Amino acid sequence: MINQTDSIILIGPMGSGKTSTGRILAKEMGYVFADTDEEVVERTGVSIAYIFDVEGESGFRQREHQALMKLLSKNNAVIATGGGILTYDENRQIIMGHKNVVYLKTSLEKQIERATVSDNRPLLIDADPALKLQELMLTREPLYEEISTIKIDTDQSAPYEIALEIIDKLG
Ligand code: S3P
Repeated sequence: MINQTDSIILIGPMGSGKTSTGRILAKEMGYVFADTDEEVVERTGVSIAYIFDVEGESGFRQREHQALMKLLSKNNAVIATGGGILTYDENRQIIMGHKNVVYLKTSLEKQIERATVSDNRPLLIDADPALKLQELMLTREPLYEEISTIKIDTDQSAPYEIALEIIDKLG
């Protein structure tokens, strides 16, 4: 059982700015910053694209789950998660028990603009990125909505402004 901590969990799709906003938010709050994707890459020593190739998406989800568990054991952390973190049942149950779960709401247009195709985003490599992001959003948006405790619209704001808005909403 994970302890309730003051950690802040950022959720949302690729291109919503979880990592850039998370870094600023952590700095402003004097918290540590952690990122499930970075943790997976650090622990395995290979890229996310490589893990998808060798172990498939399910292998990546297992590793992402282990990374999440480790990061949640930290106190006072801002934890940026991968866009698909809630597709894994256990992650959903665990994240749902936390009080500071921030959904960075982002339109499809902005996601397309911001989500660069990279080794960190294999789901966009062999697909039309716009179509893929749209398809993912259909199934994932209800999960982001359901599990978040704070929602922030990111379309019109820069990461620094979003970070300040989060601090404001945390009360
Ligand atoms: C994924 C999002 C990525 C990364 C992986 C899978 C997804 O993280 O975890 O490529 O399923 O949406 P970002 O949301 O940080 O790009």
